[in-house]
Amino acid sequence: MSQPLLQSHLTSLPLIHRGKVRDLYAVGEDHLLIVTTDRISAFDVILPTPIPGKGEVLTKISEFWFRKLEHIVPNQLADMSLAEAVPDAAERAPLEGRSLVVKRLKALPIEAVVRGYLIGSGWKDYQKTGQVCGNPLPAGLQLADRLPQPIYTPSTKAAVGDHDENVDFDYTAELVGPELAAQVRQTALALYKAAAEYALERGIIIADTKFEFGLDDEGVLHLIDEALTPDSSRFWPADTYRPGISPPSFDKQFVRDYLETLDWNKQAPGPELPPEVVQKTTEKYREALLRLTGAS
Ligand SMILES: Nc1ncnc2c1ncn2[C@@H]1O[C@H](COP(=O)(O)OP(=O)(O)OP(=O)(O)O)[C@@H](O)[C@H]1O
Ligand SMILES: [Mg+2]
Repeated sequence: MSQPLLQSHLTSLPLIHRGKVRDLYAVGEDHLLIVTTDRISAFDVILPTPIPGKGEVLTKISEFWFRKLEHIVPNQLADMSLAEAVPDAAERAPLEGRSLVVKRLKALPIEAVVRGYLIGSGWKDYQKTGQVCGNPLPAGLQLADRLPQPIYTPSTKAAVGDHDENVDFDYTAELVGPELAAQVRQTALALYKAAAEYALERGIIIADTKFEFGLDDEGVLHLIDEALTPDSSRFWPADTYRPGISPPSFDKQFVRDYLETLDWNKQAPGPELPPEVVQKTTEKYREALLRLTGAS
């Protein structure tokens, strides 16, 4: 396994964005390099301790889903190797296994969230209104219950530091036009259903997830960003799932449990993680990859 990577520092490509977990570089006019680091965030704060293997696992999971779901929608994967994008071998070495070269598309300003279970802000909304983001639901549902069918609850991308804001379908129709908005909704639901069914057979519940889409020059819709990773979704272990209690996060349970024992106000800077928490978390990420793809 390669050295853990907290931050990439390429000099051969222009950095265009550092997210909580990923560093993005421009490759010419038409491509991007997405480098997934080993950073981990909890309660929206990036922690100072890397999780070895995390970037590689997230990259492999995304790539797996892009290919597996290609029959539903085209995706960003490009025909360019990492060596073509980063010819310098020394600069390339820390990126191996954790990078994707992708087509640079016109990202739509919609976070296409799909929920299959009642949790998080959806549960709060339901308790107040009996609905989730305007989707009416049967009465009497419990926390973490499976929904009668998956629902689409889009949000808009928030400025750095802010939380994404839930919007209704009509608002997305104003942003991108009614036809494209409907295509995004239908595609996101189809992707979620196919992925959730597959994951469940392998012992993972995908409670909810967020997709991003972009358009190419011809206006063709593509799946971009990351897809169906534990960072963009809630993964729960299926074997211990029970409605009524908040299920543990498949990947971050040890980190959250540890942080709850501290006297930390959940504001940056976050605390270092002890080695046993790091080790157990690494194992959970690897287990997610193994269960979903069979690859270790
Ligand atoms: N193929 C692509 N073409 C164009 N833009 C893309 C592509 N893939 C991803 N993006 C954009 O790149 C950005 C990726 O940012 P990233 O997810 O790393 O950080 P973030 O969303 O700002 O923060 P967070 O860490 O909370 O996710 C997003 O704005 C996304 O829309
Ligand atoms: Mg993001």
